[in-house]
Amino acid sequence: MKILGIETSCDETAAAVVEDGTKILSNIVASSQEMHAKTGGIIPEQAARQQVKSITSVIDQALDTKQKKIDAIAVTVGPGLIGSLLVGVETAKTLSYLWKKPIVPINHLVGHLYANWLEGSTPEFPALGLVVSGGHTDMVLMKNHGNIKWIGGTRDDAAGEAFDKTARLLGLGYPGGPAIAAQAAKFEVRNPKPELNLFPRPLINEDNFDFSFSGLKTAVLNYINHQSSVISHRRLAAEVQEAIVDVLVTKSVKAVQKYKPKSFLLGGGVAANNRLRERFQEEFVSKKLQATFHVPAVKFCTDNASVIASAAHFNYRPVDWKKIVANPQLTITD
Ligand code: KG4
Ligand code: ZN
Repeated sequence: MKILGIETSCDETAAAVVEDGTKILSNIVASSQEMHAKTGGIIPEQAARQQVKSITSVIDQALDTKQKKIDAIAVTVGPGLIGSLLVGVETAKTLSYLWKKPIVPINHLVGHLYANWLEGSTPEFPALGLVVSGGHTDMVLMKNHGNIKWIGGTRDDAAGEAFDKTARLLGLGYPGGPAIAAQAAKFEVRNPKPELNLFPRPLINEDNFDFSFSGLKTAVLNYINHQSSVISHRRLAAEVQEAIVDVLVTKSVKAVQKYKPKSFLLGGGVAANNRLRERFQEEFVSKKLQATFHVPAVKFCTDNASVIASAAHFNYRPVDWKKIVANPQLTITD
């Protein structure tokens, strides 16, 4: 089955065709990131306007390569920015009606986990999943496709948000994650195996799978205000990255030890972080965890539509197009 996926939840306009949930026939992503880089963050109204302009051509390009014939349409219905979501949702509904194709509504966060099914890997159930994106940090237990239980998440800022906000404090660009990672990498080239423990690791030793990242920006701000001359911004970037990575990895290892899943799935924009990927790999080996660690290729971590088409294949529940509505507040278990 070939599914056309459409994704417009944040600042990307994306369309992809995926066969049988795993084989990517096309994957087009247009981003208005450069525009947002100038303003230091996303202006929702502008993002949506840009998406209205590019959606038709992005879908055209996705359908142009290889096979034009599709069997169904999948669309992100939430969570995300309402104006942005509406562009994808209304376009998908229109196409479903015109082309008489079934339409499957998809949760963006679930989509992030399905990046792990693309390109040949088939994670085994039960699986533990950690979604780390710009707006969300959620740990879930997946007993099977369509059977997702939330076991923990952030109490305040998301992991990606922590990267973005601290990057802003350090005068680095938007999006903050890649900017912090680049500065940290420069620091680490000169300082192999540095001790990085300047910033707090909230909730790291607590017996739950919750996270809290809002204290990090306060800690960074305090540091900058009081002793900026002592430590370089590169080192601070490495410290920020390590604090976030440390908490995510430590709590994930605890979750694997408790739930003993067959696989562990990382997903979301922050999963593109090299240090995070490296630390996960290392810990799974050194702690001799039985679960197989899965992390998508970098281009499938950040927002794209192939993951939406994949999720729809494995959770194939078409809905009458008239009943499909965008829901900015959708949670990972809705
Ligand atoms: O999943 P995503 O593309 O969009 C949302 O659903 O939010 O995630 C975007 C987030 C941003 O906060 C961005 O700073 C972060 O992912 N990100 C990274 C990296 N690449 C993107 N964070 C850390 N390291 C990276 N290399
Ligand atoms: Zn995302």
